Amino acid sequence: MPTANEPRQTSVAQAGGGGLASALGSLDAVGLLESLIGNVPGAIYRGALDADWTMHLIGEEIERISGYPATDFLPDGRRTYGSIIHPEHRDQVDAMVRAAVEAGEAFSLEYRIVRADGEVRWVLERGRRIVDSHGSEWLDGVIFDVTERRSVEDLTRQREAEVARVAELEASRARIVEAADAARRRLERDLHDGAQQRFVSAALALRLAQNRAADAELAKLLEQAAAELTAGLAELRELARGIHPALLTDRGLPGAVDALAGRCPMPVDVEVALPERPAPAVESAIYFTIAEALTNVAKYAGATSATVRLTQRDGLVCLEVHDDGRGGADPEAGSGLRGLTDRLAALGGRFTLLSPPEGGTVLRAEIPLTGGRTREQAITAS
Ligand SMILES: Nc1ncnc2c1ncn2[C@@H]1O[C@H](COP(=O)(O)OP(=O)(O)OP(=O)(O)O)[C@@H](O)[C@H]1O
Ligand SMILES: [Mg+2]
Repeated sequence: MPTANEPRQTSVAQAGGGGLASALGSLDAVGLLESLIGNVPGAIYRGALDADWTMHLIGEEIERISGYPATDFLPDGRRTYGSIIHPEHRDQVDAMVRAAVEAGEAFSLEYRIVRADGEVRWVLERGRRIVDSHGSEWLDGVIFDVTERRSVEDLTRQREAEVARVAELEASRARIVEAADAARRRLERDLHDGAQQRFVSAALALRLAQNRAADAELAKLLEQAAAELTAGLAELRELARGIHPALLTDRGLPGAVDALAGRCPMPVDVEVALPERPAPAVESAIYFTIAEALTNVAKYAGATSATVRLTQRDGLVCLEVHDDGRGGADPEAGSGLRGLTDRLAALGGRFTLLSPPEGGTVLRAEIPLTGGRTREQAITAS
């Protein structure tokens, strides 16, 4: 095997077959080194394997990287290269380089240095131990400034963390809405099965007592008590429906929307075409959106009619509530429309309002059938 110093008639193109050393044999090594030192965007160096890594040769690039002239690092210079390594990295870098040297391996390290102006920069240093033709040991390598690359990487990492944080926030918002809806359903069931049943029994008992009462005055009192109880029961039912409509749980959106339309003072044309039943939280959000929209129509629009249209497209439930009233709806003027925006957004949905003066009002909402979560998540949660 020829050594690196032996002149040999070969070309760089053949280097892959004969090895780099044999290819270099035919070259002007000093010229090549000079040209590399001038052209490589890093500081090429040869240092001693001493305690301070004293440089015996180092490219001018080190001045751009460190702010100190190359001559500073040469023997009898003002400083050692080791002295500009960030104090937090110094021992580690020293240990890693020595370990690589001992193992006869090349090393590639990234660490921080402190520049002349005090700025901390990241460098990539690659090198290896070599033994020259006189038997002296050296450390040969190159130092690159990789601060920009590292800050791009840091930025990418931060962005990825931010994206993950936003996704988690959205998921937790959806979970909160779902938990609140589940609590409302439970509350409605408890009212229905508990308090309402007892009040119904009490009203029946009062009616019986009224029929049997011999005293006319007592019968009248019992009748009044029964009437109060029946009115209270109606209020309780209304309250339970506001908390969560039992009809929605039992018959889904088609039945519940019909009931909402039936309570409206003007004719409401309802069209529900949903091939699949949406997730419970989505059903509730749609139901309360329609309830709010129709309440607003009844309160403010002065409309002669309204329509409610519910369809499904591309995994989305699409709602449109339209009235032919006076328009001019303004989400900033109350809390109802703003509350809908938040509720729909929590489930990955969107809400738009078109309400020009005298032009009627169109409220549109779109929500993923699964409430902004994957089908698997929705199935697991249900
Ligand atoms: N369909 C509509 N036609 C005309 N004006 C509307 C319509 N819907 C809403 N508005 C107007 O927009 C305003 C805001 O409505 P929003 O539902 O946000 O609040 P609100 O109904 O006033 O109060 P809340 O809903 O909190 O009881 C209403 O006060 C009303 O002036
Ligand atoms: Mg309102």
